[in-house]
Amino acid sequence: MSSSIHYDTIVVGGGVIGLACAREAARRGLSVVVLERETAGSGASGVAAGMLAPVTEADFGEDRLLRMNLAARELWPAFADELGVGSALREDGALVVAADRDDAEELRRLHGLQRELGLEAQWLGPRALRRVEPGLSTRVAGGIDAPGDASVEPSLVLDALVEALRVEGGELREDESVEGLLRADGRIAGVRLESSEEVRGRTVVLAAGAWSAELGAGSVRPVKGQLLELRVRGARAAPLSRVVRTPRCYLVPRDGGRVILGATVEEQGFDKAVTADGVFRLLECAREVLPDVGELELVRARAGLRPGTPDNLPLVGPGAEEGLVLATGHHRNGVLLAPLTAELVAGELTGERPRALAGA
Ligand code: FAD
Ligand code: GLY
Repeated sequence: MSSSIHYDTIVVGGGVIGLACAREAARRGLSVVVLERETAGSGASGVAAGMLAPVTEADFGEDRLLRMNLAARELWPAFADELGVGSALREDGALVVAADRDDAEELRRLHGLQRELGLEAQWLGPRALRRVEPGLSTRVAGGIDAPGDASVEPSLVLDALVEALRVEGGELREDESVEGLLRADGRIAGVRLESSEEVRGRTVVLAAGAWSAELGAGSVRPVKGQLLELRVRGARAAPLSRVVRTPRCYLVPRDGGRVILGATVEEQGFDKAVTADGVFRLLECAREVLPDVGELELVRARAGLRPGTPDNLPLVGPGAEEGLVLATGHHRNGVLLAPLTAELVAGELTGERPRALAGA
């Protein structure tokens, strides 16, 4: 069975990457359908902490990723405004704090790298840190202030993207599992669904996150992350006002007294179980630097699968076959990289130079 519509673009996967690409393609006049196996945002995107953190995610040997992350961070204010979630963008920076001397040594090295790369990051002593975040433990041994990092609530962005896609005339089909790619005349010609329906299109954008390997992005693997949602009880104040990280975990404040505590990084294949050990390690790590975390209500614990790649760089651009475009492998930074990926993919689909790179 084949549907009669022939789309310009078929996007496989309704996570933040697939939806952002689809919405941008629709905005540029292409006919677009997103095919999502479950519901929009049911993959890693709906679990993510939502940090927009080029500086505090920067690591040794990842200069290209850093450049992409910085470019994406610049796009976020306009992207959030266009989607109507500008007020949900928290641009209050992030602290990375040392729970002990070993951490402090590690963070000094990281700070050296950040300075070498010209990033905005300042070393603060324990007292200065506690002036910024009074809830921090008296034991913290110093840390980094990165004022340019930000955060956003991914569920709001996902809802806004679904709506924006609809407004631009794009389609979202949920409960549609793509089983394989169709080929004709030596190129990709669409996809075959599990229901045997064939959906025809000129280009297929593969945005299936951690599940992308089976459809043409062979090097993508799942990297499990567990995180907790906590909430202030009663009229108490939230124990932090900005993102606080350590070398082992992070805390992200959200509206309504909620706090996200993440995240484990585990090579466990496609297992998404929340484990006692994962929860224990996260709480232990958070309490080292923010003792009042123990007073919060534990609302829920979740796990998601990051789409990892061997070099931690996303795969964005032409795939191995004509008619296939990759938009996957965003690992720890898919929320941050969504607007940049959408620009790059739309540029690939239309032949236009991506606006994000204009003048570069
Ligand atoms: P997904 O959101 O996983 O979407 C892929 C979609 O494809 C899924 O909905 C899936 O159902 C669908 N799909 C798969 N196979 C098929 C098929 N055959 N047919 C149809 N549909 C299919 N990033 C940040 O930028 N900041 C953060 O703070 C952050 N925190 C994170 C915390 C955790 C615990 C985790 C796990 C991730 C975090 N990330 C963060 C990373 C971010 O979540 C991912 O990089 C991003 O969500 C990837 O988006 P995606 O759309 O590629 O994948
Ligand atoms: N970027 C945070 C995470 O992936 O856990």
